[in-house]
Amino acid sequence: MFEPPSWEERYSGEQLVWSGNPNAQLVAEVSGLTPGTALDVGCGEGGDVIWLAQRGWRVTGADFSANGLARAARHAEEAGVADRTDWWQVDARTFEAGGRSFDLVTTHFLHPPDGGMTEVAGRLSEAVAPGGHLLIVGHAPSEVFTHLNASHRRAMFLAEDLLPGLPAGFEVLVAEQRPRTTVRDGVSVDIHDSTLLARRTT
Ligand SMILES: C[S@@+](CC[C@H](N)C(=O)[O-])C[C@H]1O[C@@H](n2cnc3c(N)ncnc32)[C@H](O)[C@@H]1O
Repeated sequence: MFEPPSWEERYSGEQLVWSGNPNAQLVAEVSGLTPGTALDVGCGEGGDVIWLAQRGWRVTGADFSANGLARAARHAEEAGVADRTDWWQVDARTFEAGGRSFDLVTTHFLHPPDGGMTEVAGRLSEAVAPGGHLLIVGHAPSEVFTHLNASHRRAMFLAEDLLPGLPAGFEVLVAEQRPRTTVRDGVSVDIHDSTLLARRTT
């Protein structure tokens, strides 16, 4: 799950991997923001990208999977928002903004191994424009995930684990674990979304 080949395979068939619905914390935190430019890292099939584009954002969807990006682009086309989207094949672990900046940088359920999300938070923060927001959401460690292997479980994080990755000049607006009920294999399970929202002040 940490390297591109497994995701390329996952996205190679015809079946949808994700619901296509926007993520709950994205809707909760971004609905009230003024649309501008956005970057969604680990965008997968593009559900969040499309939701943002439909609300007036110009969105760059980024992922390390070429198949994932191709699917996302197809879905954006079908949703009629292709002209508000573009795509960027990047590995979040080595991400460099390269001079690009965005009013919103968001990532949902990206879990690099061995605590790597703290470094990723620092890398993504470089792409946030002054006055812009960084929203990072992932799974909080939980007994619910005992079906996953140990390295996968170790990759989960708490919002506060990410704080050391933020450079100076960010104001933390939210750093908490938010309860959410989801359905897995037809069964309701209670999980927590680790949610970090920060605003770049300088
Ligand atoms: C669990 S899925 C989440 C997809 C989407 N954000 C959502 O919430 O529906 C994780 C996504 O991140 C991508 N990904 C995983 N590791 C990555 C990395 N190091 N750099 C860029 N993308 C990565 C995968 O290809 C996959 O599309």
